[in-house]
Amino acid sequence: MITVHGLLGQPSLELRMTAASADWVVGGRRHLDLLEVPEECRITLGALRPAIERVAAIPSDQLVVVVASGDPLYFGVVRALKDEGLHPEVVTAPSSIASAFAAVGLPWDDAVVVSAHGRPLARAVNLARCLPKVAVFTSAENGIRELAAQLADVQRWYVLAERLGETDQCVRVLDAETAATTEPREPNVVLVLAAPPEQLDGHWSGGIAGAPRGPRPEVSALAAVAFARTLPEPGELVWASGVLGADIAAFCGWAQAAVLDPTTGATRTSPEVVVADADHLPDLGDHQPRSIVLTGPVPHHLPYGYRWRTETIGDTALTTGVLS
Ligand SMILES: C[S@@+](CC[C@H](N)C(=O)[O-])C[C@H]1O[C@@H](n2cnc3c(N)ncnc32)[C@H](O)[C@@H]1O
Repeated sequence: MITVHGLLGQPSLELRMTAASADWVVGGRRHLDLLEVPEECRITLGALRPAIERVAAIPSDQLVVVVASGDPLYFGVVRALKDEGLHPEVVTAPSSIASAFAAVGLPWDDAVVVSAHGRPLARAVNLARCLPKVAVFTSAENGIRELAAQLADVQRWYVLAERLGETDQCVRVLDAETAATTEPREPNVVLVLAAPPEQLDGHWSGGIAGAPRGPRPEVSALAAVAFARTLPEPGELVWASGVLGADIAAFCGWAQAAVLDPTTGATRTSPEVVVADADHLPDLGDHQPRSIVLTGPVPHHLPYGYRWRTETIGDTALTTGVLS
């Protein structure tokens, strides 16, 4: 039998007793030490996959306790166990994200949560560019300093919530300048906010968790077709310039995709979608965005690797390339 216990901070008496009676306890070294698990009963988590394969091979009459940080059902280990065909019992704990919001007294049903733990930071940065309340699971490489550096041109405040539940827990509200230079302790989560927490509570239409969308923008038919051909997703980056630039930016705001105009600088991050006039296609370097939209006369040389189509909307030629 497998039981997954969430843990944020000090283990409960119930978890201590369960771990003491288990044949195997699976967890990070920090958690196993905290529970004083004998060496011969430990499966220490480094890479997840080999540990789960070991758990799957344990006879079902043995008691396996998996200890995981926060809510194991939220960006947690239970998904990987189920992928392996295992059906653990789950004893949950509050997520570190929930605890961080609680520490600053901020509702979070309208927040977007994104993981940069073992993943690129771009999605978190792009979401924080266009949404007022973004919570980020961080890692040592992708944390508050990197977020603040990449968001230097946007006004944002940061909640750095370190070592939640531990005796040395620390939660601080930082301005952008301090966030860019602070030395965070692991583990931590970061909330990126459009205003200090006490100023951020506002009306929320409610009903569905996540950031509310603004009203649908009214835009030209040309922009509507260009948008439909590219369908930017939340957290994507769109380079938008030329005759469609403003309309596409309005659409992307609604779609929760970040927008930068490559002609005005600040274009270090690679885009997923590029919208431009054909005679001003920005330099893409080695990067291949997943879609390119060009207005005006069709260029003789179009980037390779795309399926191209040209259609005329009103009196303007619209050329769309989708990475094939
Ligand atoms: C794989 S995710 C697991 C998240 C977990 N399921 C949860 O609900 O909090 C690991 C990330 O959670 C965050 N985390 C875990 N424990 C934490 C703690 N005690 N304090 C602050 N952040 C924590 C860190 O961002 C860490 O990189």
